[in-house]
Amino acid sequence: MSSSPLSSRTADSTPLLQVRDLHAGYGRAEVLHGLSLQAEPGSVVTVIGPNGAGKSTLLGALMGVLPSRGELLYQGQSIAGLTLEQRVERGIALVPETRALFGSMSIEDNLRLGSYRLRGALWAPRAIGADLDEVYGLFPRLLERRRQTAGTLSGGERQMLAIGRALMGKPSLLMLDEPSLGLAPLIVREIFAIIDRLRATGVTILLVEQNARAALEVADHGYVLETGDIALHGPARQLAGDPRVIDTYLGAMAQA
Ligand SMILES: Nc1ncnc2c1ncn2[C@@H]1O[C@H](COP(=O)(O)OP(=O)(O)OP(=O)(O)O)[C@@H](O)[C@H]1O
Ligand SMILES: [Mg+2]
Repeated sequence: MSSSPLSSRTADSTPLLQVRDLHAGYGRAEVLHGLSLQAEPGSVVTVIGPNGAGKSTLLGALMGVLPSRGELLYQGQSIAGLTLEQRVERGIALVPETRALFGSMSIEDNLRLGSYRLRGALWAPRAIGADLDEVYGLFPRLLERRRQTAGTLSGGERQMLAIGRALMGKPSLLMLDEPSLGLAPLIVREIFAIIDRLRATGVTILLVEQNARAALEVADHGYVLETGDIALHGPARQLAGDPRVIDTYLGAMAQA
């Protein structure tokens, strides 16, 4: 029975991530004031919001690098008490705003480092080779430059490497902090096309963005974060047509 369509549907109905009443901040300065959101397995969920809204703070709290209060359920289990390393082991990955690459190391070595989560049970040279091929398949530019040091890459290539490195750990939840930041429109389109293609791998993506237009195009569900609270949420297509979102985030005056 466990392989029947019904039971697999039941398993899939548990959200991969459920956040309820999350409070987080820096010392006494609270930034997130009771935020709730959830992500279904295999979906792309975006959190859009202006500078300083608390987007990176949210990802820091989810990753466990910032203290927080509230309910954090991942695969139906609480991760609130887990350390950063334990969350990584469970399959949560973050590509931070800074990309955090090792500039003097080659692209391929940066990618290899991304697989360290799997070293315990699954690590084997052949497995890494297959994972590398997969990442190079997504990002052919990285393959061409695999012996080049990460410090010599363009902004778009650095973002590709940062995403590729996170994928080497085979995450279930991939969190991306403003992957379009500082990139030319053509490269932004390329990065978002790759995010769209990642759906096929089954990974769940939490995409934090100021580029609301691109983010809502690729996402299934969206949340609008304003000064530490969710102001609006809904299916991404519906949000993209909401006059409040259009006026503030998609209109002629808003950042494209
Ligand atoms: N290390 C820190 N110490 C104190 N306050 C901080 C710290 N980092 C961020 N903040 C404050 O927390 C608030 C939210 O910041 P956060 O970086 O989460 O915003 P953001 O939505 O990611 O913005 P951006 O789009 O500019 O990256 C801001 O008021 C910011 O000044
Ligand atoms: Mg940020």
